[in-house]
Amino acid sequence: MATAKKQPILEVKHLVKYFGEREILKDIDFTVEQGNVISVIGASGSGKSTMLRCINLLEMPTSGEIVFEGKNILDLSNNIALYRTKVGMVFQSFNLFSNMTVLQNCMASPVTVLKRKKEEARQIAMKYLEKVGMEQYINARPDQLSGGQKQRVAIARALAIKPQILLFDEPTSALDPQMVGEVLGVMRELAEEGLTMIIVTHEMAFARDVSTRVIYMADGVIVEDGTPQEVFGNPKNEKTKDFLARFTQNA
Ligand SMILES: Nc1ncnc2c1ncn2[C@@H]1O[C@H](COP(=O)(O)OP(=O)(O)OP(=O)(O)O)[C@@H](O)[C@H]1O
Ligand SMILES: [Mg+2]
Repeated sequence: MATAKKQPILEVKHLVKYFGEREILKDIDFTVEQGNVISVIGASGSGKSTMLRCINLLEMPTSGEIVFEGKNILDLSNNIALYRTKVGMVFQSFNLFSNMTVLQNCMASPVTVLKRKKEEARQIAMKYLEKVGMEQYINARPDQLSGGQKQRVAIARALAIKPQILLFDEPTSALDPQMVGEVLGVMRELAEEGLTMIIVTHEMAFARDVSTRVIYMADGVIVEDGTPQEVFGNPKNEKTKDFLARFTQNA
């Protein structure tokens, strides 16, 4: 059966990022299509977080283009606040508002950014809190929750703005091992529902089993970009082979 090529939702073109004199991202190019689940793997310091932060404009790229739905978001005319409602982010350290309840955390952006009425925002927040299994904790504050629970709330909060793409930066790296599964389970479900996601992760089994694509980065360069079968099963580049070999040794 012939499958039509999907419309790219995001195109990263010749992305370069310097911090001072150091070139951290070197001519990064890749395309994200609707429904892609892309795992980004690579050694510490290879530039994975910087790349995600550039995509979300938490860092300003030095040069290049980030084209979202056909428009270069680095154009000065672009509405950054609006863009950020379309490209959400989940962080390693949760970044929940500590002075707000779980429910308030999930209602904040729909009310302030999307201008939803409180009752509507509440319903949206409840829908996603139920989805991540946190509806029983709506009145809790973040410091009363486990790491896995906090991260599930952070995912619900990100979903409540109904992003077109959700970026994850090592969402399970700060968790105790017994809590990793509950968060990966939620992410797996989102992938199955067709949410477009870019996930920086060290969870190789998850990357292999859930992603539609895997990108391996080293020293600010995309060294390999392919299906999980290609990158894990038949890596072309020596650097990828070394990285994966070291990873399986240490696992
Ligand atoms: N704000 C900053 N100012 C200066 N240098 C930075 C800044 N942020 C990151 N760097 C440097 O950029 C390089 C890439 O960092 P980055 O955090 O993107 O790597 P990473 O692949 O996410 O690593 P990790 O797996 O440890 O999270 C590192 O050498 C880091 O020290
Ligand atoms: Mg990082």
